[in-house]
Amino acid sequence: MTKRFRSLILASVFAGTLQVPFAVAQDAPAVAAAAQDARARADSLVAQMTLDEKIKLLHGLFPPMADGKTEETLVPSAGHFDALPRLGIPTIRETDASLGVANQVEQRKGDTATALPSSLATAATFDPGIAREGGEMIGAEARAKGFNVMLAGGVNLTRDPWNGRNFEYLGEDPLLAGTMAGAHIAGVQSNKIVSTVKHFALNAQETGRMVLDARIDEAAFRESDLLAFQLAIEIGNPASVMCAYNKVNGDWACENDFLMNQVLKRDWGYQGWVMSDWGGVHSTAKAALAGLDQESGQELDSQIFFGEPLKAAVESGAVSEARIDDMVARFLTGLIEAGVLDNPVPEHPQPIPYDVHADVAQRAAEAGIVLLKNQGDILPLATTAQKIVLIGGHADVGVLSGGGSSQVRSVGGVPIEVPLTEGAAMSFARLTYHNSSPMRALQAALPNAQISFVDGSDPAAAAQAAADADMAIIFATQWTTEAQDVDDIRLPDGQDALIAAVAAAQPKTVAVMETGGPVLMPWIDQVPAVLQAWYPGQRGGEAIANLLTGRVNPSGRLPITFPASADQPPRPAPVGLETLTSLEAQAAANPANAGAYQLRTFPVDYVEGADVGYRWYEKQGLTPLFAFGHGLSYTSFAYRNATVTGGDTITLSFDVVNTGDRAGADVPQMYITRTDGGDPMRLAAFDRITLLPGETRHVTLTAEPRILADYDTSLPGWRIAGGSYTVALARDATDRSQSFTVDVNPATIAP
Ligand code: BGC
Repeated sequence: MTKRFRSLILASVFAGTLQVPFAVAQDAPAVAAAAQDARARADSLVAQMTLDEKIKLLHGLFPPMADGKTEETLVPSAGHFDALPRLGIPTIRETDASLGVANQVEQRKGDTATALPSSLATAATFDPGIAREGGEMIGAEARAKGFNVMLAGGVNLTRDPWNGRNFEYLGEDPLLAGTMAGAHIAGVQSNKIVSTVKHFALNAQETGRMVLDARIDEAAFRESDLLAFQLAIEIGNPASVMCAYNKVNGDWACENDFLMNQVLKRDWGYQGWVMSDWGGVHSTAKAALAGLDQESGQELDSQIFFGEPLKAAVESGAVSEARIDDMVARFLTGLIEAGVLDNPVPEHPQPIPYDVHADVAQRAAEAGIVLLKNQGDILPLATTAQKIVLIGGHADVGVLSGGGSSQVRSVGGVPIEVPLTEGAAMSFARLTYHNSSPMRALQAALPNAQISFVDGSDPAAAAQAAADADMAIIFATQWTTEAQDVDDIRLPDGQDALIAAVAAAQPKTVAVMETGGPVLMPWIDQVPAVLQAWYPGQRGGEAIANLLTGRVNPSGRLPITFPASADQPPRPAPVGLETLTSLEAQAAANPANAGAYQLRTFPVDYVEGADVGYRWYEKQGLTPLFAFGHGLSYTSFAYRNATVTGGDTITLSFDVVNTGDRAGADVPQMYITRTDGGDPMRLAAFDRITLLPGETRHVTLTAEPRILADYDTSLPGWRIAGGSYTVALARDATDRSQSFTVDVNPATIAP
């Protein structure tokens, strides 16, 4: 659904002989041909519609607030469009989101689904195959439950460690995030349903997300957040793109001509439809003319902009009927190409192989959990360990999940669920645990050990229990949710003091971190082993136990930098949070006049530009707590016989040897920069390979050409400056132990 094919041709024309290696992209000519056929079919359907029928397809209901607005059955979920049986267009039912079929605040009583680990955990696998498998699985459940549009595919880059939605996204690097999102989307759509990619673009913080103005320079934008979307679209071919709530460089994302008309539709040749985020529309003609094709969840907007006002705009000539036809045709093109029209979803829920699906969730967690530290090899747990105490994090009953529209009510029930009493997430989020107890899983794995639990509410008692045991495993939690950022990246509720007290009492202490993203670890020097478990999903307890006991060898790598202090990232705290907190307090004190204390639009300046995450650290000369790409294993790997070739792109070939005595997976990474360019290094390729002890595999990494390039707005397009490039074969973003230089040809690539 892109004009990738055309860009390849243009690229070759610009560059003479440039061969763009794009191993992961779908077959571009075939995709382009399918999109063309779908569009022709869509156009012929549109030609048979009345204006009223067209308009009806352009604004969707929000089922929880749409009682009485349709004669069809409204399934409580994110969105609904009535069928148009005359033309073979089925009812469209939309559900969130990337971690499974969501059922926030149990709006569909008793309806459970399989919960994947957080998307950040999936990103940490560095394995597009796992991302795809997860997408296939959740898409199959969506189809079986009668949904034909899945609002999966969040790919906003992590610019700030405190963003409340980091767990729904795929980290800080555009190549990694775009590749993984694309694979996930392709997996969802393999079920002949739609997946979206979202939130287009720069919805990088939750504080003030409905009003903030994200500001960034165009070239930097193209090289960072937009590149993540571009790759995700090329690889995943999503039928739909969801525009974001925020403004971008002065205009609302959902009425932003630059984003939708110029970048997405003109430069990338996108043929599908742009749907708004729920409550993200602010105008009729402006939005329609800027490229918004459909208003979602209309009840959440201040008025229904794409209903009567859109019809009136056509009648007055403010919006041409040709544009209306294009909007509808894009919607239908997406549906047709995804397979929705030809493969109707079942009318009644179908059986789902939940056991098989739980295994998919578990494999993703096992591959994405990261062993950050393992001093003295205290992990894996010795099978001889006698007395182990587990502390905190409700490890006796389950594992934590992130909150918001992505919330899956998981199979097996919810052992802990705490409603919120305040804040922007109150109406649709609850603090929720999945029924997957690390304690039960460890007891099953180590039947001879004596495993007990203390809840950690009393640090002195926890320290005593730790001292009385042979080993302590402390479960730290940080709950994050859509609609709120965390106000700082320290562990909440005194957990740092608890961990310090336990580590002081028991030298063999392991910390298992169930967090939305990075947290500070002031106790790191006292704690010999740390396992970053993210939100590990419905089988998280089993996955954690398998990694702790060595039944599974850790292989996750950080998709995001862990700061050593709160002031290392570009912004120490959410922009606007102080103002928001003070307004909320004033509104609470003056309930009769609460409306007067609304947050107004404010700028968020992304001063780091394209130097997001690890690139920022390198540029500023900062040493993080744990680097992007870092992750340990119970075995060891060596890289040998590396050779690098330049020319039209950079290719790095080498042997990876498992030099230890266990099977394990490794993630070799290639970082590049122009030797004299003064820019931080960028991840240009990666691979994930599993090796038996002693096994050697020859690996070739080929740089994505746009990572070699800078975006040049005067071209416009990508410009590979050429000349000498420095290449690192690395274990993480800071590893320079094997560096090379190589010459690259200058070239240009279409936007
Ligand atoms: C979120 C989207 C979600 C939509 C529908 C919005 O609040 O930002 O990610 O898909 O709601 O639930």
